[in-house]
Amino acid sequence: MNRLTLGIETSCDETAAAVYSSKHGVLSNELFSQIKEQKAFGGVVPEIASRTHLEKINGIVESALKTAGVTLDEIEVVAVTSKPGLPSALLVGFCFGKALAWVKQKKFIGINHLEGHAFSAFLNNKDIPFPHLCLTASGGHTALYYVTGFGAYKTIAHTIDDAAGEAFDKIARLIQLPYPGGPEIEQLAQKAGFKDYFNYPRGKKDRFNFSFSGLKTAVMYDLVEKDAYDMATKKFLKPHDLKLKEEVASSLLVCITDIFKQKIALALKEYPDVKALTFVGGVACNSYIREQLKEFLSKRNISLLYPAKQYCTDNAAMIAFVGNYKAERDEFSPWNLDILQ
Ligand code: KG4
Ligand code: ZN
Repeated sequence: MNRLTLGIETSCDETAAAVYSSKHGVLSNELFSQIKEQKAFGGVVPEIASRTHLEKINGIVESALKTAGVTLDEIEVVAVTSKPGLPSALLVGFCFGKALAWVKQKKFIGINHLEGHAFSAFLNNKDIPFPHLCLTASGGHTALYYVTGFGAYKTIAHTIDDAAGEAFDKIARLIQLPYPGGPEIEQLAQKAGFKDYFNYPRGKKDRFNFSFSGLKTAVMYDLVEKDAYDMATKKFLKPHDLKLKEEVASSLLVCITDIFKQKIALALKEYPDVKALTFVGGVACNSYIREQLKEFLSKRNISLLYPAKQYCTDNAAMIAFVGNYKAERDEFSPWNLDILQ
């Protein structure tokens, strides 16, 4: 049997659709990224996100079917992100998917976006052993999970304030770098040799939960001390000092990488049976963090696996993948499912 699942994702600023085949894996993974639309605001404006989703959703779903070489009639399951996310953005994909499933009499499943990320490494790594740890680091979420099977995971740690990607984005904004901050920070850090110039605070080593908002404040105060930031006008005063930007970026990247290592070390003490760690979410695009984690884990005989870059940032293939294993177990959603439930 070959089950075809259509995945739809609109929880933030990517309009995405994908087709997953239970026999052949990902057949298509289409996406419209609103980075250009959102760049002028330095972050995601919910109304712009939802209006853009409305404009794009039909075309993206059509092109996901076309690229996959399948017709809507051949689709058995429609899997749509139902939580968490920006409500007005979620609603677009969710209502589109639910209506499509209802009219065409497909099976319908609401998917937790975080479960999508948590299993996204399976899209290009077939044999990831259980139990394993999963470090999810994106613009909206940062968490460490203990994963025992498909859909079976326990949260060991989560962020109590900002997410890691959010820290990259907000600190990038402090020093007048464009949105999204992560890739910009990585490029500048590379120029500065990935060295730790300013020794930003790492937080409490013996605590599981992540906290990144203090880091942003620490960077801001450090810039004030360097006469590079004015608190009153919230202005970066040295926009042409490339060396300073590179050193901030480099110190920040090293600091966040160290925080990840600290939490993983704690988790490994508590869960010595894990054989692997998956590193997922937009921040997992970062080659420096990948290399550092790989070295750190290989000393402990634990393998590091991560999704291909197109599956790290928000995408619908990961939503369709979760939809596929849920369909296998007949875990469908009721028609009265709402977003954020
Ligand atoms: O998973 P994602 O697309 O969206 C959410 O679900 O939030 O992640 C986007 C986040 C942004 O905060 C962005 O700055 C970060 O991922 N990001 C990176 C890199 N590429 C994207 N962070 C660090 N290094 C990167 N190369
Ligand atoms: Zn995400």
